[in-house]
Amino acid sequence: MAKKFGLVFILAALAALCLAGGEAVPADSGAEIPAGEKYVALTFDDGPRRGTTDRLLDGLGERGVKATFFLIGEQIEANAALVTRMAEEGHQIGNHTWSHVHLGGANAAQEVEGTEKALEELLGGEGYWLRPPYGDAPEGMTFSVPLVKWSVDPRDWENRDAEKVARSILENVEPGSIILLHDIYPSSVEAALKVADRLREEGYWFVTVEELLRLNGVTPEAGTMYRTGRG
Ligand code: NI
Repeated sequence: MAKKFGLVFILAALAALCLAGGEAVPADSGAEIPAGEKYVALTFDDGPRRGTTDRLLDGLGERGVKATFFLIGEQIEANAALVTRMAEEGHQIGNHTWSHVHLGGANAAQEVEGTEKALEELLGGEGYWLRPPYGDAPEGMTFSVPLVKWSVDPRDWENRDAEKVARSILENVEPGSIILLHDIYPSSVEAALKVADRLREEGYWFVTVEELLRLNGVTPEAGTMYRTGRG
């Protein structure tokens, strides 16, 4: 027993030494988020999609990176395990309407409500934040949750080259950025993981949109559209 305990102790001491002497590991899974650091939010729209979302969750998990997913309601039931996994792994989940409609349409309210209901049934809770498709919320429409737009858009739906998408993000990112990607393209998943590796080396921490606002001292309000962590 004593021998076993000694070995465990030595391993723990070695691990502590590696952490202290080696690279700092920002955004480590389960680590507390320190104040005053460089924060950024990766956001993914139009999923979940089998084959790409699960690959992304694997990669984010390996890196201890938290992200935000705005889901299409009609894709939730067939991908319930993926959505449950997102929640369990600490990602923020939001609403991207039932079938990706423009909120100016006649059925916009039902589209938002449908996805909210699906998320409530699967995950519990309520008031899932909304990313309007095309980033557009018509004047005069009222919302019971905060709205999330973005400040960095590499147009990954158009540009399916992971290297180019990653470069576009890295050229435009700054602390407080909300980055728009789509977890339905293999190239976007690859780009996201490249960006995660690169920005972690530069000392960035990846947090959810909700955390990003809180860390910037912003209190989210229903019906307000947030483009960056600073509001
Ligand atoms: Ni979309």
